[in-house]
Amino acid sequence: MKKVIIIGASSGMGSRIATDFARLGWRVGIAARREDMLKEIKNLYPDRIEYMAIDVAAEDAVERFNRLIELIDGMDYLLYAAGCGWMDPELDDASTAQTIRTNVLGFSRIINAAYKYFKSTANLHRGHIAAITSVAGTKGIGVSAAYSASKRYQWNYLQAIDQLAHQQHVNVAVTDIRPGFVDTPLLAPDRTYPMEMSIDYVAPRIEKAMLQAKRIAVIDSRWAVATTLWRLIPDALWRRLRLDF
Ligand SMILES: NC(=O)c1ccc[n+]([C@@H]2O[C@H](COP(=O)([O-])OP(=O)(O)OC[C@H]3O[C@@H](n4cnc5c(N)ncnc54)[C@H](OP(=O)(O)O)[C@@H]3O)[C@@H](O)[C@H]2O)c1
Repeated sequence: MKKVIIIGASSGMGSRIATDFARLGWRVGIAARREDMLKEIKNLYPDRIEYMAIDVAAEDAVERFNRLIELIDGMDYLLYAAGCGWMDPELDDASTAQTIRTNVLGFSRIINAAYKYFKSTANLHRGHIAAITSVAGTKGIGVSAAYSASKRYQWNYLQAIDQLAHQQHVNVAVTDIRPGFVDTPLLAPDRTYPMEMSIDYVAPRIEKAMLQAKRIAVIDSRWAVATTLWRLIPDALWRRLRLDF
């Protein structure tokens, strides 16, 4: 029976993927800050899901993460699905700090802890580290500076961990999952976004990327084309674009 830990599983994509894996018979460890929501998800599959309240920005995050691994008796897959971010053209200090604490500090802590776990255990079978980053890491986005920069950080961090695993002969696959807009509580509820996707559409694609141990998975192909085009735009032109999502 496969075992997966999902950080950021109280809502949105993380919560949906947790229940999908539980339905398949996997052991699933879920974490986030809102314990009441984690409990509700556990109650859907009480024999297969365990939960632990974790704030990835808190000092005790790694200790609690390791306790959750023990609760489900090991880990084959980590999915880091925690995240926050806002449209923030006024560059609010509190939003910037929260984005960095969650998407940079908390992310690095949990990825490091997962890598160390696999380094000590994954010699016989392969470990998997996956994270939902975003297409927002493609370029700096003016109305979302902290978020887009934090997602670029995540891309580079995962690439670095993949290289480290190769150099240290650690049997772990690293998957960077980059969706475009998805209809989750992260987005403002009162508006629609360009090429917005439903969780029903995105979740199976994320799961497939994890199971196939893809290095990078852009979701979906329309977003792969769009971000390839973004990359080709010279800075002098990019600065003029109004990406007022
Ligand atoms: N929705 C999109 O359009 C979109 C597009 C591309 C990428 N993404 C990325 O996808 C990931 C999942 O987001 P989502 O869209 O599914 O939105 P979501 O429903 O808001 O999910 C975010 C999850 O992260 C958890 N979280 C936030 N801060 C945390 C913290 N300090 N410690 C632990 N858990 C924390 C939240 O739980 P608690 O509040 O209970 O802690 C929640 O379970 C994020 O990294 C996001 O950047 C989203």
